[in-house]
Amino acid sequence: MMNLLGIVGTNSDHSTNRMLLQFIQKHFADKANIEIFEIKDLPAFNKPKDRKAPSEVQELADKIIEADGVIISTPEYNHSVPAILKSTLEWLSYTSQPLIDKPVMITGASYGKLGSSRSQAHLRQILDAPELKARIMPSSEFLLGYSLQAFDENGNLKDQSKIEELERIFNDFTHFVTITNQLVSNNHSPKNVQKFSWEDN
Ligand SMILES: Cc1cc2nc3c(=O)[nH]c(=O)nc-3n(C[C@H](O)[C@H](O)[C@H](O)COP(=O)(O)O)c2cc1C
Repeated sequence: MMNLLGIVGTNSDHSTNRMLLQFIQKHFADKANIEIFEIKDLPAFNKPKDRKAPSEVQELADKIIEADGVIISTPEYNHSVPAILKSTLEWLSYTSQPLIDKPVMITGASYGKLGSSRSQAHLRQILDAPELKARIMPSSEFLLGYSLQAFDENGNLKDQSKIEELERIFNDFTHFVTITNQLVSNNHSPKNVQKFSWEDN
């Protein structure tokens, strides 16, 4: 079975993005093993001279490397991603760069009607930076608006049409993961794996 890593894009204890990932984990349990990773206790990125990742960041990097694909669920803070998510991506880009060529699906939940659309677009742009270089699933968005009202008391999405939309996107993502990993492994002679550094430019 496919192994995926779900990253909760916030350090809030009360998060509808965490609920969304927990729902995805439960709803697709017969299609993928999904481990949920919390970034809430990671230190703020501080660009250490030795480029060494703190152990919690290294743990995340190792899990990303092992996973077939990654799902990131982001809130929207001031039209962008929360600082903790940006900081986490800065750590990863500055240390072992585990997201290079990794298939990624972006989801998000927000309290307003746009369902984190602006932060998702921003996250897509960030993940495309040369030191991150994730393989982001194209032409797909799962926007969960009015997220405070979206779940029942068992943590299930209430709106059946939203569940069906998620099923279509998740199904696409499983194919995207398989195809992308085949493409990448066919292309991965060592000369093709080029890690980028701004300092070498
Ligand atoms: C500092 C801050 C800024 C926010 N800015 C936006 C925003 O620009 N757009 C929006 O739709 N919601 C905004 N919100 C409300 C968020 O939709 C909501 O807090 C968050 O996305 C829900 O995610 P969570 O339940 O996982 O914490 C903001 C919330 C905070 C705390």
